[in-house]
Amino acid sequence: MPMPKALVTGSAGFIGYFLCQRLLADGFEVVGLDALTDYYDVTLKQRRQQMLLQNAGFGAVNERIEADGILHDLVANERPDVIVHLAAQAGVRYSIENPKSYVDANLVGTFNLLEAVRATPCQHVLIASTSSVYGANTEMPYAEDHRADHQMSFYAATKKASEVMAHSYAHLYGSPITMFRFFTVYGPWGRPDMAHFKFTRAILNGDPIDIYNHGEMRRDFTYIDDLVAGIRGLIDVPPARPASPDDIMPGDSLSPVAPFRVVNIGNSEPVRLMDFVAAIEDAIGQTAQKNMMDMQPGDVPATWANSSLLTSLTGYAPQVSVQEGVARFVAWYRDYYRT
Ligand SMILES: NC(=O)c1ccc[n+]([C@@H]2O[C@H](COP(=O)([O-])OP(=O)(O)OC[C@H]3O[C@@H](n4cnc5c(N)ncnc54)[C@H](O)[C@@H]3O)[C@@H](O)[C@H]2O)c1
Repeated sequence: MPMPKALVTGSAGFIGYFLCQRLLADGFEVVGLDALTDYYDVTLKQRRQQMLLQNAGFGAVNERIEADGILHDLVANERPDVIVHLAAQAGVRYSIENPKSYVDANLVGTFNLLEAVRATPCQHVLIASTSSVYGANTEMPYAEDHRADHQMSFYAATKKASEVMAHSYAHLYGSPITMFRFFTVYGPWGRPDMAHFKFTRAILNGDPIDIYNHGEMRRDFTYIDDLVAGIRGLIDVPPARPASPDDIMPGDSLSPVAPFRVVNIGNSEPVRLMDFVAAIEDAIGQTAQKNMMDMQPGDVPATWANSSLLTSLTGYAPQVSVQEGVARFVAWYRDYYRT
């Protein structure tokens, strides 16, 4: 049997790196596309890519997804069985400063991917969206059939737009598409713009940390290994266009007209921001100086995933507690930065 082939975009990113390692371990040949953008420290991305290149089953392409023809030609030449599209301009806060970069990477880039798959269909396309699409929805825990129509940031708006663009392509051209809605993913090799990274760095440097909304925040923190297990499980369950809307199981977000589904991947356990900070303080053995701040524009006070659809599709059961996950992150950070 030939090895299955996966194309992973964003392969030098935090999530992409761990997903590629998992796919290689599972016997996939992996083509990883990543432009190594300078949104955060490029050295981290280079190091992740170098580690992936140690495996003979991995090939790297360093190009931008919004560049004309790149994805079209790559998909046509490589003919992957599965595509996992993670490359994006991420971050709620940066989308206030530089919205155009979100148009380029998230809208044009995702459009290019959909066009590439229209020309060269594949067995399953899986695309990263975010819990931020739930926006102003206050019904908790967030389930896939809740309204997600009132995004609070331009980042979330571009992700919601990716979802609806992808639905139309699945309906019109038939390649099965799963959209993931990820909930605050953290762990070793994580993103320097995210809270766990910033807090750890500041505490170790003796700098104060900014606590938004005076600490009245809750996040459903998902440890990277649990997230990757969720993605890996979903790769094996491409959605099929239902013969009739009556065929859709209760609780399934399957489209009535297309091989398309949206799935939350979270820990399903919201953690208070101050408890998260306390877990970092415990892991480091130092107390943080805290600047209590107002809510940031574009942010939401709470996220909480209902992951029962993911569990029913794949048997998903998250394994790593916040205390354990934070301890693993802090251990990695201290080792990597020798601090
Ligand atoms: N980490 C989280 O908590 C989280 C939560 C929700 C959704 N997501 C989504 O998951 C995906 C992966 O996120 P991550 O945390 O690994 O972020 P990341 O920034 O570490 O990874 C994204 C990768 O995509 C690459 N990239 C960005 N723009 C590109 C472009 N125009 N062309 C080619 N490559 C480009 C970057 O160089 C980077 O390596 C993103 O789509 C993100 O929006 C992440």
